[in-house]
Amino acid sequence: MLIINPDTYRTLIKPLLFRLSPEAAQSAAHLALKPHRVWQAASPLLRVDDPRLAVNLAGMSLSNPIGLAAGYDKDCEHLPALSSLGFGYLTCGTVTEAPRMGNPSPRIIRYDADEAIINSLGFPGKGVDYAAAQLEQAQHLLDNTHVVASVSGVAPDEILRCHRRLEPLASAVEVNISSPNTLGLRIFQQPDTLRQLLERLNDGRRKPLFVKLPPYLQTPSTGSEQKDMVLSLVDVCLQQRVDAVTVANTWPARDSRLAVGAGGLSGRPVFADMLHMVADIKAEVGDRMAINACGGIFSGADAIAAIQAGATTVQLLTSLIYRGPGIAKRINKQLLALMDAEN
Ligand SMILES: Cc1cc2nc3c(=O)[nH]c(=O)nc-3n(C[C@H](O)[C@H](O)[C@H](O)COP(=O)(O)O)c2cc1C
Repeated sequence: MLIINPDTYRTLIKPLLFRLSPEAAQSAAHLALKPHRVWQAASPLLRVDDPRLAVNLAGMSLSNPIGLAAGYDKDCEHLPALSSLGFGYLTCGTVTEAPRMGNPSPRIIRYDADEAIINSLGFPGKGVDYAAAQLEQAQHLLDNTHVVASVSGVAPDEILRCHRRLEPLASAVEVNISSPNTLGLRIFQQPDTLRQLLERLNDGRRKPLFVKLPPYLQTPSTGSEQKDMVLSLVDVCLQQRVDAVTVANTWPARDSRLAVGAGGLSGRPVFADMLHMVADIKAEVGDRMAINACGGIFSGADAIAAIQAGATTVQLLTSLIYRGPGIAKRINKQLLALMDAEN
């Protein structure tokens, strides 16, 4: 199982995959996940079972704090295989109400040397009915792995309908108000609009609700305007009894090779700024709301740093692409080694 070891994945499998265009490589990876029984047979090799890794996220008992971030399995098609990879939870989606083509290609650029990606996908997907059917079929194949359904839309009704449809099939729902590639989403980055949306979602909701926040940079040149905006969204989340915020989505970035010229940056380069955000938000929320740290998590040391900054869990996506399907196991083993070293 060469593919499982991050070192052999990096030296043998990744160079082959990276000869393909990013979207073709993604399709190849998805094809490899199709025979889910093979992955389930390999599951004992990919899991780290140790009670010291267990965490509670908004009432969900997780075997470990490493979550798969939204965007890898947009249509919830690969959950049975993904649940064998040793993650504490999986976020599927982002799912929108109607099917969407997304933005024109090219819409994913790799920065191999930096272990980063810029994407401008813009929510391509098959819509909520398809995702719900996939989630329904996967229910008895999840090997006790919690699934969080990521939903979005450009109008409150769309998000509400996705929430209502997927909540019964998932352990929690994450509302994505922060993709930089879908302009209409920005309306939910106004505190009053977010409040109204959350009030409607709260009316009848039964399971934990997460909100995925946009990032902010705080440098002398950017000032504190974006940070103040994000902290005011955090405040609304607290008032509306949101269970966790995911910090954060991709970071707006430009690349002329993208058909639309701009997208969202992920991977190693966003890690340091993500940590600052987690610490700022932890100072604001204390123990009243959990934080899922998301951005550039590649190692156990990264995960520990995020947890020490105030996160309950971490989420990753780009390191799965650069390091392969053994990434959750590697990080969990490194976490245990760090715990042992620090007693
Ligand atoms: C190809 C790609 C697609 C993504 N799609 C989504 C998405 O549909 N919804 C979402 O909330 N975030 C999406 N993201 C953002 C990730 O969930 C995550 O927030 C971001 O990549 C930072 O984490 P990372 O550095 O571990 O990748 C996507 C990221 C990538 C690279």
